Amino acid sequence: MKRPIFIRNASQLITLQGSSLAPRVMGGMSDLGIIEQGSVWIENGVIQDIGKDTVLAAKFKNRLNDADVIDATGKLAIPGLVDPHTHLVFAGSRENEFNLRLQGASYMEIMKAGGGIYATASKTKAATYEELFQEGYDRLNQCLLHGVTTVEAKSGYGLEWETERKQLEVAKELNQRHVVDVVSTFMGAHAIPKAYQKKPDEYVQKLIKEMIPKVAELRLAEFNDVFCEKGVFTPEQSRKLLEAGKEFGLIPKIHADEIEPYEGAELAAKAGAITADHLLKASETGLYLMAEKGTVGVLLPGTAYFLMAESANARKMIDIGVPVALATDCNPGSSPTVSLPFIMNLGCLKMGMTPAEVITAATINGAHAINRGREIGSLEVGKKADVTIFNVDNYMKLQYLYGVNHTDTVVKHGQVVVKGGKLIEELSLS
Ligand code: NIG
Ligand code: FE
Repeated sequence: MKRPIFIRNASQLITLQGSSLAPRVMGGMSDLGIIEQGSVWIENGVIQDIGKDTVLAAKFKNRLNDADVIDATGKLAIPGLVDPHTHLVFAGSRENEFNLRLQGASYMEIMKAGGGIYATASKTKAATYEELFQEGYDRLNQCLLHGVTTVEAKSGYGLEWETERKQLEVAKELNQRHVVDVVSTFMGAHAIPKAYQKKPDEYVQKLIKEMIPKVAELRLAEFNDVFCEKGVFTPEQSRKLLEAGKEFGLIPKIHADEIEPYEGAELAAKAGAITADHLLKASETGLYLMAEKGTVGVLLPGTAYFLMAESANARKMIDIGVPVALATDCNPGSSPTVSLPFIMNLGCLKMGMTPAEVITAATINGAHAINRGREIGSLEVGKKADVTIFNVDNYMKLQYLYGVNHTDTVVKHGQVVVKGGKLIEELSLS
């Protein structure tokens, strides 16, 4: 039996209580459920009790000596951050393209010339399973150090079955062996492979008839994503791919309206996608449809920043009722970062969100974006004990003191995995 953990006396304990069934929208995104001088009693990986320190200390007074106490005096404690959009498993890096883009080349030009996603696909194909696992493992350690306790991970650097499968199997093993939870998405529809450039529909058929059924049969993913973009997959091809996934129980997600408007938001709402991601160029009609359907908008301001594009209009989306989540989009081309706190800062400064809204977007709404709203994303009795403690005394300071990693302590599933801003190495393998 693991010893209980007692997190004590946080200057602000952000609970976000009461949001397990649906993502927060509009004014609800600012209602953080803050307990001042708040404490959490954790047992068997689960939150057993939560409230004012004085109340919990009295309740558990006979058991205080049995528990490992974390003193959070003067600190901010929030639900472990959830990153609902990453391309976690890949090989290599693309700083050469970064350099080219700084000199005026565009992301799509580089991709059309055979770089971009294709460059990472060849490196990922050449990498061994073990190499990919190690890269992914190291990246997950970095996530933890930034307070992130759950990530979604997409395939899509294979574009042929063997490599797609390798990526998904690596993600599955990472989920089993690393303390961070990894939730998988199949994204064979990330680019049209070069051999199919003149016959894209044949690749779409290959995905529908061969790969999607195998992903489902081998239980390698929960979600099915497509890059719906001019020059990549059309809205009609995207619709067919998402519908095919649904038949095999894969929940639709979509990279929508990232570089040009392409009715991606509309498609997301109509196809019953759980999220539409990016949305820089989404139409007003599309956004209203998403609000009506409750489709979560997963916004990736790190990608806009890194591609030097204008960010999505989060302010407008929140004001019309779209549930908004934030993610890193961690990938070697358009957003090579694991720092969700940095993305939250961009949410404030580039997308008109408030410090309260970005916390909701990076916790409970992120959890709903990957269908985990009942288990994680808020601090409530019965939920998984994933808690991040930052070295600031209030949530506004987390964004105000920008560019610094404030992560102090991370508790993952009732286990202390980061202490004093450092990984506890022997515990990082579960
Ligand atoms: O979400 N948009 C498509 N895919 C990624 C980029 C992948 C890459 O450039 O390697 C994205 O931005
Ligand atoms: Fe992406």
